[in-house]
Amino acid sequence: MTQRTPIVGGNWKMNTNHRTAAELTRELAGGLERVGGVDVFIAPPFPYLLLVGAILRERGSRVVLAAQDVYFEPDGAFTGEVSIPMLQDCHVRSVIVGHSERRHVLGEHNETINRKLRAVLDAGLQGVLCVGETLAQREAGRTDDVNRMQLQECLAGIDAEHAERLVVAYEPVWAIGTGRTATPEDAQNAHHKIRGVLSGLFDEHVASRIRVQYGGSVKGSNALGLFAQGDVDGGLIGGASLKSAEFVQICQAAAQSARGA
Ligand code: 13P
Repeated sequence: MTQRTPIVGGNWKMNTNHRTAAELTRELAGGLERVGGVDVFIAPPFPYLLLVGAILRERGSRVVLAAQDVYFEPDGAFTGEVSIPMLQDCHVRSVIVGHSERRHVLGEHNETINRKLRAVLDAGLQGVLCVGETLAQREAGRTDDVNRMQLQECLAGIDAEHAERLVVAYEPVWAIGTGRTATPEDAQNAHHKIRGVLSGLFDEHVASRIRVQYGGSVKGSNALGLFAQGDVDGGLIGGASLKSAEFVQICQAAAQSARGA
């Protein structure tokens, strides 16, 4: 079995301000200094990217600066949007695309997500593609179909070479911000199926190297149980990523799960 380095991301969503973003970054850079064996990224809101990036560099931190979204065109008349060259200018190296809040609150579809993801991977950045079913879809027994469809449509036209920079985040919508987490067994089951879809889209070797994160009410107290599952390669963290001690604990759990593998 391929040994994958676990990856933990902090999605700050529309939270923090200039002062708290700086404080949180300093605390994380310090707290994660001695945590090895796990890749970590944080995704602050756009206005704080430069600030957070500068603090990470000043501290010599290995934490990667990520963005929560991007637009696929390089420049032009797209009011309110942010381009890949702009993100690169701010030292961003990873971009989340297709988050469920963008799908369900802001009406983003697979086709747009696909264009964004292709642009991100083409630019040599890491792309974190979010997929996951709603509660109604889960209750209708459609979890695996929904994940398969999202993966097929969002990954259309992406080749194996680009897939080297791909991370998939499985985030069941009913578990996001609700305090309701998938059981480790449910997460493993969904992740295993996701890896099967990736195998079909690329090949088994490529699929065995793609990290699949779990997201949805991950906390310090439940992280290890989830990350210990064979196909769960870390997590994408919302609420708990705003508390430095808890986020550090989650990163430690990911590192520990890899050591125990
Ligand atoms: P919570 O950890 O707050 O449930 O959010 C998960 C998420 O959406 C991360 O992208």
